[in-house]
Amino acid sequence: MSETGGLYIVLISVHGLIRGHDLELGRDADTGGQITYVMELARALAGHPAVGRVDLLTRLVLDPMTDDDYAKSVEEIAPGAYIIRVPCGPRRYLRKEVIWPYLDSFSDQALLHIREVGRLPDIVHSHYADAGWVGSHLAGLLGVPLVHTGHSLGRVKFRLLMDTGMGRQAVEKRYNITQRIEAEEIALDTAALVIASTRQEVEQQYSLYDNYSPRSMIVIPPGVDLRRFHPPHRGWKEPPIKREVRRFLRDVRKPMILAISRPDARKNIATLIRAYGQNERLRELANLVIVAGTRDDIETAEKEARSVLTELLLQIDRWDLYGSVAYPKTHKPNDIPDLYRLAAQTKGIFINPALTEPFGITLLEASASGLPIVATEDGGPRDILARCRNGFLIDPLDVEGMSDALLGGISDRKRWYRWSRNGARRAPRYFSWSSHVKRYLGELKKMVRRSRKLHVIKGLKSRLPVSDRIIVCDVDGTLTGDEEALGKLLRLLSETKVSVSLGVATGRHIRSTIKVLKEWNVPMPDFLITSVGTQIHYGPKPVEDTSWARQIEYRWDPEGVQDAMSHFGGLKLQPRDAQSIHKISYFADPKKAPSIRQMRSHLRKLCLHCNLVYSHGMFLDLLPIRASKGGALRYFAYRWGVPLERILVAGDSGNDIEMLVGDTLGVVVGNFSPELKKLRGREKVHFASGHHANGIIEGIEHYSFLTSDLPKEDDR
Ligand code: GLC
Ligand code: MG
Repeated sequence: MSETGGLYIVLISVHGLIRGHDLELGRDADTGGQITYVMELARALAGHPAVGRVDLLTRLVLDPMTDDDYAKSVEEIAPGAYIIRVPCGPRRYLRKEVIWPYLDSFSDQALLHIREVGRLPDIVHSHYADAGWVGSHLAGLLGVPLVHTGHSLGRVKFRLLMDTGMGRQAVEKRYNITQRIEAEEIALDTAALVIASTRQEVEQQYSLYDNYSPRSMIVIPPGVDLRRFHPPHRGWKEPPIKREVRRFLRDVRKPMILAISRPDARKNIATLIRAYGQNERLRELANLVIVAGTRDDIETAEKEARSVLTELLLQIDRWDLYGSVAYPKTHKPNDIPDLYRLAAQTKGIFINPALTEPFGITLLEASASGLPIVATEDGGPRDILARCRNGFLIDPLDVEGMSDALLGGISDRKRWYRWSRNGARRAPRYFSWSSHVKRYLGELKKMVRRSRKLHVIKGLKSRLPVSDRIIVCDVDGTLTGDEEALGKLLRLLSETKVSVSLGVATGRHIRSTIKVLKEWNVPMPDFLITSVGTQIHYGPKPVEDTSWARQIEYRWDPEGVQDAMSHFGGLKLQPRDAQSIHKISYFADPKKAPSIRQMRSHLRKLCLHCNLVYSHGMFLDLLPIRASKGGALRYFAYRWGVPLERILVAGDSGNDIEMLVGDTLGVVVGNFSPELKKLRGREKVHFASGHHANGIIEGIEHYSFLTSDLPKEDDR
């Protein structure tokens, strides 16, 4: 199945704080269930005999506010499983909504890591939208299948937020939701397999996407860590957290109603307190224990947490619940399993009253601990209760219904024992990581067999591998346009003492590229990326890299695309010689043609996957989903082992965007067209004032590209 020693699996989970021990769950909104999920998955995969290596890629964080653990580049978490921390953008901790501009760099650094490992992954598996963006690029360059897990979906969140009355603009500002949804669409565009946790996630959530294709989606629920979550054994000693809880409660032996969640309004803790406070019998019979993250000073907590916690305190006071409600200020990760056991020991119940619950891993943890559950009637709880048969489903907004369910759950002894036993037995049977991994690998094997492998080039006879830096220029408008400046640039390159190669990356076909280069007296470049990145040739002959062409073939249906596009007005096919097998090009009339967004959405709904590239306010190219100038350039860099920081790229229009962003040294020449405006302020994208080749020369000077000592590969 793979070259040596079992499968090599690359998992990507960009945001939050991930480490091999003492996960700081609930520390912030981004360090929650997904973090547990990916850690458990990484460990369980590495433990399987068919798997040789698992790398879990996440963002490196160097921040005085967070532990040093998150700044280590490599951490072994189990034999054969590593957390690989990838630097991207600023070093400080960033919430997931603002990571977007740095993800191109994340992909580039990830590529570097994979090249260092010296082995191509069999699979890239992305978690959440941000990683989906990275993963689809990475898998495309490497030519390996992408697996994607959404964890939670932007379109669903968008609807919920709109329902709460938050305006479109406010949602956009706070959550960057358009960007997130587009990243999810891109992940679905490329993913060979999507893993969902529940049927409902597929049917009601993914169905909101243009790229909805249930055929490539499977449901494999996550597992519960059975080493940590199990019922209290006989002779179980009083855990440290009990002391903490006791401080609040008059009679700690009463059945405990336990709720564990982040202090997030959607978790609906307020309704739970009301349901408890209003019902006298419930207050008499049971205690309520609310574990809502850990807090330092509520006043300085994040806005959302502050409002949830303040509301909690006010409610306790309103209903005068002193002595029967506990809300510990802090807890350690190891206290959580003890809390479930403690609640089980008192014949209590666990409740998850969240407004929506796509999965609800806490429900599995409670079940495995022998603690019956009450949960919102939604996708996850429905599936879990169908399997475990250990509790009630509720409507999270029905206060009376909630009190009744809690009361019912604790007052019938016989039923309580039955539920407790059911959960403790059935949760491990249906929701274990080992059964998850078994099914996962079964699916993977099918895909890996189908995929082709790219091989790294070692020691071909060319000056490329020996040249120490590379300049890649777009042709029309960038390299050409000013004869005198071009002459100056070419002289600069031929007279320099350092070894430098020249490549071009253009929208033109190879024949017309060679022709125009001759007309402008440009010597034959060392390599040529043509037809908007759909072809790569190596000079001087030139010889085509056919494996790139094969690799981008993925999901390409040119007839389907052309047919679908014929419905739109304002588009005219470019002449025959501008078309090629992996490129369909139009002249677009900006006044009459629909927006790129509309066209993209139309194609996706027809299951047509392609990359739409708009340049110079008039050219529209439709390419295979994995093709672009930037993609071709990175593929080239990976194959030949050239670090992207040693590649200077120059361009002037839309089809240059992908190669200008990320870790390459980007130069936008002064005569750029409007599509490039949005790159202003991006890291490593220099806007030159000089036009055409003068802009390139300016960029060379800006980066001291021909004079500085660039980092050697070994120094990195
Ligand atoms: C070149 C190509 C054309 C393409 C344009 C933008 O002009 O000849 O087909 O649409 O670049 O990429
Ligand atoms: Mg151009």
